[in-house]
Amino acid sequence: MDSHQAELIASVEPAVERLMAEHRERREHWYAHEYVPWEKGRSFVDEPWQDSDATLSPEVRTSLVLNLLTEDNLPYYHAEIASHMPEGSAMSRWTHLWTAEEGQHSIALRSYLLTSRNCDPRSLEDDRLATMEAGHSTGFDDPAAIFVYTSAQELATRVSHRNAGKLADDEVAYQIMARIAADENHHFMFYRGVTEALIEADAATMLDAIHRVFTGFSMPGTVIPGFVRRAVEMAKAGVYNLRIHHDRVLVPLIRDWGIEHLTGLTARARELQDKIMEFPATVLHNAEVFERRVGMATG
Ligand SMILES: [Fe+2]
Ligand SMILES: [Fe+2]
Repeated sequence: MDSHQAELIASVEPAVERLMAEHRERREHWYAHEYVPWEKGRSFVDEPWQDSDATLSPEVRTSLVLNLLTEDNLPYYHAEIASHMPEGSAMSRWTHLWTAEEGQHSIALRSYLLTSRNCDPRSLEDDRLATMEAGHSTGFDDPAAIFVYTSAQELATRVSHRNAGKLADDEVAYQIMARIAADENHHFMFYRGVTEALIEADAATMLDAIHRVFTGFSMPGTVIPGFVRRAVEMAKAGVYNLRIHHDRVLVPLIRDWGIEHLTGLTARARELQDKIMEFPATVLHNAEVFERRVGMATG
């Protein structure tokens, strides 16, 4: 890690401690077994899965499976984030807590999909293996960018899980996805808060990181088999798409971090500030192009 960024991260340790304490206070612990419909589970050996077992719509099933495979990749997210956090630091302790909480998401979602027979267990496992064998990295190798990326990614998964649960039209799926989304929201608030403290400490470094992450952002999951087809299905269903990314992720982050109102910047930082401020319009334009291409009504 470059030493400037190492110092920068170390300088916000008090904010990390405060945000972690707030998180522990705020987050309601939950148990997946209280939501999963175990009484519905049947042997897949005696009664092999067939498509007609599924009760959810195809696009909701696609969304839940894609979200599950994304959650399954937790070891890679952990490894990447942990590699930037000094041993014994508050950030390192937070990363352990975050990993523990994230671990429940795939447990809950997989248990739901298997007991309710809303996915083919064989292809789910094949896809999981292929996804994890491919590995994952954000493509950013500095902690400043990792904090920005994780803020955006937690907010995006919150929206995606929540929307998938709402569209499911199934009370149990709705409840489980709402629980997971609430966790993602709490994680988002933590990472957003640390990023805010980093901006306060060194706006120029963080503007550079925000600019790099926003322009190069892709959700984890691109290595999942059939990702593009599945992502288009989710986009059309309104679970996650470019317009949602613009409305629910980019615009709120830019507003919350007060990018527009940062002052005392160098010429280079001002240039990045302008580019970041112009970025949502580009994404909105791309959203409109996509919506026209797939025949969605533009909002
Ligand atoms: Fe998660
Ligand atoms: Fe998350």
